[in-house]
Amino acid sequence: MGPRKLLLASVVAMSFFLYVPHLASSEEVFADSADGPTAESPGEPWLSPGPQPWVVDVDDYGAEAVADGDDTEAFLGAWRDACNSSENPSTFLVPEGKTYQLMPVSFHGPCRAASITAMIRGTLEAPSNRSVWLDRGLQEWITFEGVDRLHVLGGGTLNGNGQQWWNNSCKVNKPMRCVTGPTALYFRRCTHLIVEDLEVRDSMQMHVAIAYSWNVLVSKLFITAPGWSPNTDGIHVSNSKEVSISDCAISTGDDCIAIVTGSMFVRITGISCGPGHGISIGSLGENNSWAHVSDVLVEKATLLGTTNGVRIKTWQGGHGYAERITFQDITMHNVTNPESAVAVSNIRCSLAAAAAVGCSRHILLHCLPANSNPALPAAVLGWLLHSTHASNSDQTSQRTE
Ligand SMILES: *[C@@H]1O[C@H](CO)[C@@H](O)[C@H](O)[C@H]1NC(C)=O
Ligand SMILES: *[C@@H]1O[C@H](CO)[C@@H](O)[C@H](O)[C@H]1NC(C)=O
Ligand SMILES: *[C@@H]1O[C@H](CO)[C@@H](O)[C@H](O)[C@H]1NC(C)=O
Ligand SMILES: *[C@@H]1O[C@H](CO)[C@@H](O)[C@H](O)[C@H]1NC(C)=O
Ligand SMILES: *[C@@H]1O[C@H](CO)[C@@H](O)[C@H](O)[C@H]1NC(C)=O
Repeated sequence: MGPRKLLLASVVAMSFFLYVPHLASSEEVFADSADGPTAESPGEPWLSPGPQPWVVDVDDYGAEAVADGDDTEAFLGAWRDACNSSENPSTFLVPEGKTYQLMPVSFHGPCRAASITAMIRGTLEAPSNRSVWLDRGLQEWITFEGVDRLHVLGGGTLNGNGQQWWNNSCKVNKPMRCVTGPTALYFRRCTHLIVEDLEVRDSMQMHVAIAYSWNVLVSKLFITAPGWSPNTDGIHVSNSKEVSISDCAISTGDDCIAIVTGSMFVRITGISCGPGHGISIGSLGENNSWAHVSDVLVEKATLLGTTNGVRIKTWQGGHGYAERITFQDITMHNVTNPESAVAVSNIRCSLAAAAAVGCSRHILLHCLPANSNPALPAAVLGWLLHSTHASNSDQTSQRTE
């Protein structure tokens, strides 16, 4: 399949039940933050020259970085001091050239420190034994929670060692019971968050999740897992506002990026995706729930060997809105179902209710020539988004594997 270019597909407005036209432009995505946070815009990182940060090195807290070790307590001790020892900025340092073994761990705030830089230069390894999570009912490996002004970077690697999870997934091994696997790197209730320059590989399930967070900049992440690994989303954003994701290379077994309910003002740019399932808004409306995603811009994405392109996915029976969603400058090479993206140049699309047309959970996208009037559904000239039968291999939101 030759390269296909999606120049502009501006989703005017989508409601699972209602049709509310409102044209988005890329400039609008972050422009109107009236009901968003009043913090600085993500374009202006909060970092500024000030007092020298106090450096807390995990090795000084007993981390050994040996193959059969467990460095979790040392990391937690170092975190407590980085977080609360003083009001000055602090640096939580994981030295370069070493490999640390970490059990599921939560680094939480609130912190006294004005800001914390987690400088991850070395490699962090997750337990390969899935009993570690199953026995304790845990669903995350490394969590940062309730921290303001956190900057995570350093060029290091987080290895989820997820092979045992994939082998025992009910998608790969049919007789297995379906269970939800852990997320490798989870950010919950973080504000003024910057995450950059890290490799996250072979997660048990999702690689990076951002939830209930405000003012988030994610860039230069290298995320990788085999194309067959089940449910291994790259970056998953939920219930978060003012999120920018740029310049990431993502190849996994599920969506490279998924933006789900409660997310607003999300800008995604400069993403290389594949293999994987493409870039998705949704799935929305699971279990007849109400869902809302608005002001999302996806631009300058290259999809290479993905099963799909860019999509909005819904569950039948759900309701709510996906509003002001713009896809532009999307390049596709060797995409299995390019029609599942808007694979025609310069068109404008409006969405009709999936339920209304009897297809399962994939929304049908009605595409009109750029110069036609989207307010007139009767004028639909050509259409097609995804097949009207959702493929079973693509139940990305069925988190119970
Ligand atoms: C830091 O101090 C705050 C306020 O006393 C406390 O709530 C928080 O749990 C402490 N954080 C850590 C990591 O100990
Ligand atoms: C995994 O851990 C469980 C208990 O935590 C233990 O019984 C089991 O032998 C371990 N499996 C492997 C392969 O180490
Ligand atoms: C997963 O399955 C593959 C193929 O059966 C096998 O080679 C590999 O050792 C298994 N890995 C784990 C961790 O169970
Ligand atoms: C949806 O309902 C199913 C079955 O009741 C349940 O297992 C699943 O966790 C629910 N999903 C969500 C997102 O609530
Ligand atoms: C196209 O993508 C498929 C599936 O990801 C892959 O197996 C195949 O090698 C790719 N072909 C080319 C020419 O890149």
